Amino acid sequence: MGKTIIISNRLPVQLQISNGAITAIPSVGGLATGMKSVHSGGDSLWIGWSGLTEEDISPELEPKIDVALAEHGSSKVKLTEEEVDGFYYGFSNRTIWPLFHYFLEYSEFQLDYWNTYKKVNQKFADAILENAEDGDTIWVHDYQLMLVPQMVRKERPNVSIGFFLHIPFPSFEIFRTLPWREELLKGVLGSDLIGFHTYDYERHFLSSVRRLLGLEVSFNDISMGDRLIKVDSFPMGIDYNKFSDAAKIHYNKAESEQSELQQRLNTHKKTDPEAKFFLSIDRLDYSKGIAKRLYAFEYFLNKYPQYKEKVRLIILAVPSRSNVPQYQLLKREIDELVGRINGEFSTVSWTPIWYFYRSMPFENLIDLYTSSDIAWLTPLRDGMNLVAKEYIATRTDKTGVLILSEMAGSANEMNESLLINPNNFEQTADALHEAINMPVEEQKARNSILQKRLARYNVEKWANDFMTSLKSQNEREAANVSR
Ligand code: ADP
Ligand code: G6P
Repeated sequence: MGKTIIISNRLPVQLQISNGAITAIPSVGGLATGMKSVHSGGDSLWIGWSGLTEEDISPELEPKIDVALAEHGSSKVKLTEEEVDGFYYGFSNRTIWPLFHYFLEYSEFQLDYWNTYKKVNQKFADAILENAEDGDTIWVHDYQLMLVPQMVRKERPNVSIGFFLHIPFPSFEIFRTLPWREELLKGVLGSDLIGFHTYDYERHFLSSVRRLLGLEVSFNDISMGDRLIKVDSFPMGIDYNKFSDAAKIHYNKAESEQSELQQRLNTHKKTDPEAKFFLSIDRLDYSKGIAKRLYAFEYFLNKYPQYKEKVRLIILAVPSRSNVPQYQLLKREIDELVGRINGEFSTVSWTPIWYFYRSMPFENLIDLYTSSDIAWLTPLRDGMNLVAKEYIATRTDKTGVLILSEMAGSANEMNESLLINPNNFEQTADALHEAINMPVEEQKARNSILQKRLARYNVEKWANDFMTSLKSQNEREAANVSR
């Protein structure tokens, strides 16, 4: 049996150099955190970008970098600063990301970004070609590498290629605005199996394939010459046990073993057992709706003034893509909103919003999940949203309420949460009110169902389902060709 190669822009860790020493920090984002669990259990090779540019890497450092990555079963694709600008900050995050999240007005159509995207996709494809042999399985991930499947297929027709998109695939009306729409579709169609988080994304993709390329689509099969390509949805799960086990450890910690954050949160709980913590965790990204959430919080405090001094919103925003102007503007907007709302509502003994702009170690993430009565996750558009699933997994006593946006892919599997439209402040404020007053028995009933589902459809099952489907697709194709 051949080997498996995972390829994505991000690796499980990102490298940083300080004072000549290399440090590896865990990558954030659903792709890296999810795939890390799959990768650590097997003997696959993971190829991607280390986070450093060629200009950062001196000849003396290079072997050390290779060793640091090898410890994580990874190998690097080298990118120059100019390539990172055009490919990562440019076409990936200033063209595709906004467009696929329905922020059409943010999407920039620049030929030089496109050219760099093509060039860098070829670099990733070349890295695969150096390592792959006939019979191997290649799993390509996400919007940064949409051209890679076809680039590999052209040179190595006898490898098996799967592609998974971790973000939404937009409706045809949005996708058609992209000048390079046919090229992107043809790139992805180099795969044998194409996976999405939800059936809607799958349907949008098939509609674009039919209308833009005129290919025959029957149910979820695409015919392209003598090839048969399968498209399907595989909602990504989490490493459920990792989160629930960590939560159990958290609850049993003696005070002296607790983190400062846990101690601080506990002290607040003890001082006022009626007080409620609302939790908001995301990368600082406009698609996550953090600014809208702040406006909705202000609306809630005005509509239900009885909760002043009783509720606290904890915002953890992880720095992300800070070279892109829209992210810089958003950071400023959020800083100002937090300042304004705290300025308007704070009292001597109460600050309504605690705002952290940083990445946190896993233990602190668990502290926040386990200490929060309500998780308030309301992206304007989100491929999946794993944070929602992680929150539920840590609620080992089954209490807690999840308020989730209908626009998150995870909403399809989390009907027992309070689903809201993040643009509707009235509905959001009422959902917060309902969550605060939800009887414990009802919380437990809802969370029991959610937990069972999440424990069953975990990330391992997701990866296995994808790989099994890819294998059976290869068998179908082989039978199709020999007919
Ligand atoms: P996205 O992939 O768009 O960032 P997801 O909610 O799907 O959104 O995934 C976010 C992932 O990043 C989760 O697995 C979460 O645990 C992790 N994460 C979120 N915030 C932090 C943080 N402050 N520090 C470390 N990891 C984080
Ligand atoms: C989303 C994307 C991933 C990406 C992650 C973090 O989850 O689907 O591909 O890795 O965000 O973003 P970054 O730009 O830091 O890789």
